[in-house]
Amino acid sequence: MVKELNFTKSWKLMIESRKYIPTGSSSRARLWKNICHDYLPCSLFIKKASGSYIYDVDGNKFIDYRLGFGPVILGHDFHAVNNAVEKALHNGQVYAFNNEMEIEVAKLIKSMVPCAERVRYCNSGTESTLLALRIGRAFTGKDKIIKFEGHYHGWHDFVLFSTDPFSHKEQKGIMQDSKGIPKVVKPTVFIAEWNDFEGISKLIKDHHREIGALICEPVMGNSGSIPPKPGFLQLLKKLCKIYNIVLIFDEVKTGFRVARGGAQELYGVCPDLACFAKALGNGYPVAAVVGKKELMQLVETGEVFHGGTYAANPISMVASREVLGILKKKDVYKYLNWYGKEMMNGMQDIFKDRNVDGIVQGLPSMFQFFFTPLKEFIDYKGLENINEKLFAKVQFELLKRGVMIDEDNYEPIYNSFSHKVTDLRKTLEAFDEVVKILK
Ligand SMILES: Cc1ncc(COP(=O)(O)O)c(C=O)c1O
Repeated sequence: MVKELNFTKSWKLMIESRKYIPTGSSSRARLWKNICHDYLPCSLFIKKASGSYIYDVDGNKFIDYRLGFGPVILGHDFHAVNNAVEKALHNGQVYAFNNEMEIEVAKLIKSMVPCAERVRYCNSGTESTLLALRIGRAFTGKDKIIKFEGHYHGWHDFVLFSTDPFSHKEQKGIMQDSKGIPKVVKPTVFIAEWNDFEGISKLIKDHHREIGALICEPVMGNSGSIPPKPGFLQLLKKLCKIYNIVLIFDEVKTGFRVARGGAQELYGVCPDLACFAKALGNGYPVAAVVGKKELMQLVETGEVFHGGTYAANPISMVASREVLGILKKKDVYKYLNWYGKEMMNGMQDIFKDRNVDGIVQGLPSMFQFFFTPLKEFIDYKGLENINEKLFAKVQFELLKRGVMIDEDNYEPIYNSFSHKVTDLRKTLEAFDEVVKILK
């Protein structure tokens, strides 16, 4: 059913919000251009989310494929998790001491994630990559790092480079994505191209004496969804081992989503350190750096400083314990993969049947479609060839039919354990209708 969308209350709240909060929202990625008066990018104001659905203040209801940018792996307001959290609420919120659940969660992580010999908690993905890089530098005694073009690792000073090179094409070399980063930081970062076997080999051979750590999203999840080419992660591992560089997988998006043990399990490549957040809490704010004992030892000895008032707080821990318990026991991944494959194949078939130049790519629990004559994307540069305007129109028409994906073509479509077969059917029907009218 096609519905004329009304976002009046969200617009009004946005105008009010901007009087107090710069941009009206506390994260840039939440602002949409499509849905509002052209003078302000707007965030929707959400009233509630439940199962696979999200409801805004204007009374609109959507099947949610953004899922909080990925964390909601089980579904919104997942009762088994929330019941446990509700009980724990009455035991207080933060102790400046330990709680037993930290050990239970660490044991669960260790039993699921190949590289997790030791675990250290923090609150956000940004914090986790900051800590992992610090450990990497401390372990090797080398200050510089490698990151890849189009990979996002949070907003701290050491990684906010070339996350979106197209946004400032006129610049050459490494793109700095924010003012206020000290000038000394930029020269500590090397940018490499994803899936470029020769490029990364040469870069490491030429500069390995300065490079302490290499960080990557093992599946690019901030550029649609671009998996590693066969052998690419293996090559990174080999080069890092030869040249004494700490290999860090930023599994903030892939972790507990693409497989029980993350991308490292799926591709059979065990990094030295890995960062987890998002799906670790099904929406509760929790993150972790996990890795080899010999590296994590630096935190144990105090050579690497790490702290945090809220790290491993009992609420996040109880949530994580329940989430991981469910992910470990139930066939969540079989379902996510089934649902995602049906959706990906369905969309691809619609492109074919409607004679549209479009591709669907990525992993079933984290994928995206693009309007492009290309057959696949293997790196960030390829994305220059997408029709983002057409994507934006499709996204808006899908909203009218009760299906919500992100406005940003680079943000993947996610699914959850709560998405139902009826949601899938409705989504594909809506997609078919929209592609038919817009082509
Ligand atoms: C791969 C990756 N790393 C790190 C982060 C930063 O996480 P947070 O927003 O929790 O700080 C994100 C956020 O989307 C991410 O996608």
